[in-house]
Amino acid sequence: MAAVFLPVLGLTRPTMPDQESLFPEESDRERRRRKAEQRIRHLRELIRLHDYYYYVEAQPRISDREYDALFHELQRLEAEFPELVTPDSPTQRVGGEPLKEFAHVQHRIPMLSLDNTYSREELREFDRRVRDGLRGEPYRYVAELKYDGVSVSLHYREGVFVLGASRGDGLTGDDITQNLRTIRGLPLRVQPVDYHGVSLTTFEVRGEVYLLLEDFHRINRQREESGERPFANPRNLAAGTLKLLDPREVARRPLRLVCYYLLTDQVELQFQSENLRLLQRLGFPTDPHWTVCQTLEEVFAYIDHWESAREELPFQIDGIVLKVDSLRQQQQLGTVARAPRWAIAYKYEAKKATTRLRAITLQVGRTGKVTPVAELEPVFLAGSTISRATLHNADYIRKLDLRIGDTVILEKGGEVIPKVSGVVRERRPPEAVPYVFPSLCPCPKKQPLYRPPGEVDYYCDHPECPWQIRRRIEHFASRRAMDIEGLGERTVDQLVRAGLLHTIADIYDLHLHRDELLQLERWGEKSVENLLTAIEASKRRPYHRFLFGLGIRFVGEEVAKLLATAFPRLEALAQASREELMRIPGIGERIADSVFRFFRDSRQWEILERLRRAGLPFAAEEAVRATPAMGFFAGKTFVLTGELASMRREQARAEIERRGGRVTDSVSRRTDYLIVGAHPGSKLRKAQELGIQQLSEAEFLALLAQHPAP
Ligand code: IVH
Repeated sequence: MAAVFLPVLGLTRPTMPDQESLFPEESDRERRRRKAEQRIRHLRELIRLHDYYYYVEAQPRISDREYDALFHELQRLEAEFPELVTPDSPTQRVGGEPLKEFAHVQHRIPMLSLDNTYSREELREFDRRVRDGLRGEPYRYVAELKYDGVSVSLHYREGVFVLGASRGDGLTGDDITQNLRTIRGLPLRVQPVDYHGVSLTTFEVRGEVYLLLEDFHRINRQREESGERPFANPRNLAAGTLKLLDPREVARRPLRLVCYYLLTDQVELQFQSENLRLLQRLGFPTDPHWTVCQTLEEVFAYIDHWESAREELPFQIDGIVLKVDSLRQQQQLGTVARAPRWAIAYKYEAKKATTRLRAITLQVGRTGKVTPVAELEPVFLAGSTISRATLHNADYIRKLDLRIGDTVILEKGGEVIPKVSGVVRERRPPEAVPYVFPSLCPCPKKQPLYRPPGEVDYYCDHPECPWQIRRRIEHFASRRAMDIEGLGERTVDQLVRAGLLHTIADIYDLHLHRDELLQLERWGEKSVENLLTAIEASKRRPYHRFLFGLGIRFVGEEVAKLLATAFPRLEALAQASREELMRIPGIGERIADSVFRFFRDSRQWEILERLRRAGLPFAAEEAVRATPAMGFFAGKTFVLTGELASMRREQARAEIERRGGRVTDSVSRRTDYLIVGAHPGSKLRKAQELGIQQLSEAEFLALLAQHPAP
């Protein structure tokens, strides 16, 4: 991309000399505020500049870490001096509360769609119509990439982004301003650009909201991990995101923007090519790959080039758009029905190939979901060699009547991920038999597969299935869950192989295996220390992230938050009935059933019990704070020994904790009471030695009754 003139981003002086002496009377706060004001202004400009480098020029100049540091500093200063917050501050991209519904917006000028074609002959016809419409006048085209996203309209008044709308039916769209503000490539404020003596500040810009393929794949991977349905393509993901009513959720999805259309009443614009340059100067992200074509032959060359070059683009295009460059000529050609006569979209066909289906294997995910995968004779399709493709589920295989040995049709279209779309029946080998979906998990545990009622997928629900174990541990340690740095895919694999990790609870015993860790390849004192520190730090993550990390089927990040809010203590959540769970807004039968089943599995109890002992967050902060600070149990430490006749040990623990007490496993000087059941163990002797007070079960029950939980 060419160097851009950026009046928007002219920097102010970084720091001012200390001016204390100039303002002898001002208070300390005023002085700090004045300094903060300068720093805030500077930080905002820096952040805008780096947003521009990152999202518009696609050339970041600082690391994410450095960027985050600037952002946090700004947040901190704005929190200290809230009166200095302005709506166009980069911190205010996510401002609003969730909406109930979107307001409607009437488009002043309809948002037209384009006529589509897949054929060059139709392009020639289009060109003939243009030529006839312009009665022999010379003309030229602008050819642009057709981004496969969602079109939006952005309104700027006096340089400030004031309204953003979806296309809707072309005449009326939704007011999605709050959602669009979260897109970091979208300027919240532009500096005026001079156009023939007029300063451009009030205009409408149209463009496409889309996602980078890598972001699309990452989000889909995460969704699949938490048992949510993946999006079929980046466009659906972008569309689904813009429809969310909570801008905070939108902000979590890395939406991108590219602009291709400028409308204003301030001046008479002349050429599409000029508009693209103006947009760029105003600070909008534009696509750098457009070109001017004098002839149809040049258009065809552009089409041919991008037909294959599109494989290397980091985003998806579904064709190219051809526009008459002169806006006067565009007007002359006018519009028929819903599409202009001055533009057309040439779309690329989905690419297909045929190959042989060698086998169908089963892949077991973290949640135990079993996905059939087509093992194919490698075939080159649209830029990559493909040897595997998901077959989704048993029904998909049945619908296509796929048989091992079949010649299958492989397609890569708007769906990005290659899919098996059909079978060439004529080439079916006579010995091919209908595929029977296995009834046992392919893992060494050979657990019978389970298909929840009404679902298309099969599951292996053996918690020791080694295939699931790796995925579970990886998920638990992942950034959005417990964020254990250094415990990524490779390390997990290594530690599982070394027999050091079987369940997520083993992570918290790794400190007992220092020596074994040190003996493993790639490990040294420093890296072991770092890992153990990271593990220790993970105990301080919020309760909802721990819930998410547990990897309960269908419990993604959002659901985990809902559960954590409704049940701020894990004990209560674990005891909740299906009905109680379903009473939580946003939790349906499917999720309720999965959560219920998870906590009924005795193999999970053991893991949970170990995690609790390790000190993982079993309650939300608010719940911990809400625990009584007064009363008999508050702040006291209890140890249990022997069997209680009236309740299980977990229950006793829960009762104590609900009253603000703490339960530990071993007796020490810090123990306040030892609760003694039948057949006490060595803890009793230790308590006697240390002179720790004992409570019988009856005394304990009496205390519980005297001090009811809140
Ligand atoms: S021009 C009347 N330019 O394709 C002008 N559209 O099928 C209409 N699109 O609704 C839009 N890239 O969502 C234009 N470079 C581009 C485009 C583009 C993608 C989308 C846009 C539009 C649809 C038309």
